Formats: sequence, C-alpha cells, structure tokens
Amino acid sequence: MLLPEVLRNVDSLKNQVGTWKQVGKTIGVVPTMGALHDGHLSLVRASLTEADVTVVTIFVNPTQFSPTEDLDSYPQTLESDLDKLSDVGNVWVFAPAVTEIYPADFSTSILAPAVSEPLEGEHRPNHFGGVATVVLKLFNLTEANFAFFGQKDFQQQRVVQQMVRDLNVPIKIRVCPIVREPDGLALSSRNVYLSSDEREIALSLSRTLNWAVGQILSGQRDGYELMVEMRQRLIDAGVTRVDYAAVADPHSLATMETIQLPVVLLLAATVGTTRLIDNEVVA
Ligand code: PAJ
Repeated sequence: MLLPEVLRNVDSLKNQVGTWKQVGKTIGVVPTMGALHDGHLSLVRASLTEADVTVVTIFVNPTQFSPTEDLDSYPQTLESDLDKLSDVGNVWVFAPAVTEIYPADFSTSILAPAVSEPLEGEHRPNHFGGVATVVLKLFNLTEANFAFFGQKDFQQQRVVQQMVRDLNVPIKIRVCPIVREPDGLALSSRNVYLSSDEREIALSLSRTLNWAVGQILSGQRDGYELMVEMRQRLIDAGVTRVDYAAVADPHSLATMETIQLPVVLLLAATVGTTRLIDNEVVA
C-alpha cells in the first residue's frame, strides 16, 4: 500500500478536514505519540472499520511529561510508523511540530476531571491536564466523529470520557481491548527500554493481574487483602518499585474495600528504570 499522507501543520489539516466535511464523510481520530506497535494499530483498524476517513495523530506531547520523565528520550520513529500504517490501510497522519500545537502565546489548559486524581495522578502530577488539553485540541482540529483509545491506559480513557461528557464535546469515544504479547506482556512503546532480564520481570504485571482475576472469580471480596497480595507478588518477582496495585471502581476509580463487580485491577511498577502500567476489568 501507499505510504500515508503526512500533514505537518494545523492549516493543512483544517483544509483537508473541510473537504471531507463538505462531502459528508465521517472522521475517526487515533491520538498517539508514535513508536507505533500492534496496540496502536488495533485502534487504527477499529477506526478504519467505523469511520470513512481515519486520521492518526503522532505527537509527543510535552505538557504531559514531568521534568523528570522521558520526554527527550521518548522513541521517535516516524519512518517505520508510516510503513506500519501503510500495511494496515488508507489513513492520514497528522504529525505537527510542537510550535504548531503550542505557539509561543499559548496559555489555556484543561483542568482534568476528578477521576484524574488517584493512581497515576498521585505519581504524575499534571499529567492528565496535559493529556486532556492536547486531546481536546486534537478533537477540535480533526472535527472527528469518533476517537479511539486503548484500555491499556485505563485511567486516561476515563479522563477523556469524563471531559467529553462534562464539556459536551460532540465526539464518540471508543475503547479498544489491550493488545498483549503471546506471553501476556501488554504492548507499550516503552517496552523497547527493557533488557531481556527486565522483560522477564515485567511479565509479573500481567501474571499478577491474571492471578488476582482468578482470586476474584473464586470469591475473594476483600479489596485491601488483594491489593496487599498483588503488591507483594510484584516485589517478589523483582520489580524495582510499585507505584500502585489497586482494586477500584471502573467508573469513579475509587478504591474498593469490598469487591463488587464490575471492578478494575490496576498496576503501575518500575522495572529497572522503565515505568510500566497494566490493568484488567472483571465484569
Ligand atoms: P500512546 O502511549 O502513544 O498511546 C496511544 C493510544 O494507544 C492510547 O489510547 C493507548 O491506550 C493505546 N495503546 C497503547 N498500548 C496499547 C495496547 N497494548 N493495546 C491497546 N491499546 C494500546 O496515550 C497516549 O499515547 C497519549 O497520552 C495521547 C492520548 C496520544 C495524548 O498525548
């Protein structure tokens, strides 16, 4: 297939969107930071199925990284991203420079909803404010009818859904299942940082989730006990640090002391210097 057309600036995207709207085409947007893998591509496939036109945005958004995080080293692989997209189907890519999204006089930002506060919010201050701001800009720029997000970033999709609801943003959010390696490791652009020993340790996240799902299915209802046990399993497997091992309400993300279905299990842990997240919903 042909390489996708790459739009580099806001004006060229707006012109293109205008031509689609004029002929009544529906638009799907897949927001990404690039370094595409099969998880991202599953969202692209979902958009190709549902919308007439698919726009994949590739933008490493500086406002969602804290000063101590990996903004400068975040993998940037545009050429191979375009190759992968051309294998999936006919999409457009919006890959703007930082100054296109944040011109020098940019000064407005979204205050992320309350669901942004626990879990990631406690470990990555301002992260979801940066995500919400860029995502709303991407929704406005693409005028998309549908936006596709992964369950992999469970809290992120909740933040986006809540923002869309609170601000009456005219877009439908679709959440796609987590794509995993055959051994269970959730695909992530950050997996490239893992050495082979660290990759083995990283498997403890999905294994711990599977174990915990089994516990719930066999009747465990003590949320605290399960959280303590999940954390201990990660530590025993050799993770460097556990940020959280949580049992939460999938809507509010509040901790569940007594487990009632549906429930979401969420893990965040650092292996070596790589921070990984994973989750499972039990419905
Ligand atoms: P990024 O980490 O590139 O992820 C882009 C999208 O791919 C997100 O919706 C994420 O949940 C989804 N994704 C990642 N790994 C996945 C997997 N293994 N299975 C299924 N989906 C997966 O998330 C971001 O970028 C940014 O915060 C962004 C929303 C683009 C805003 O800057």
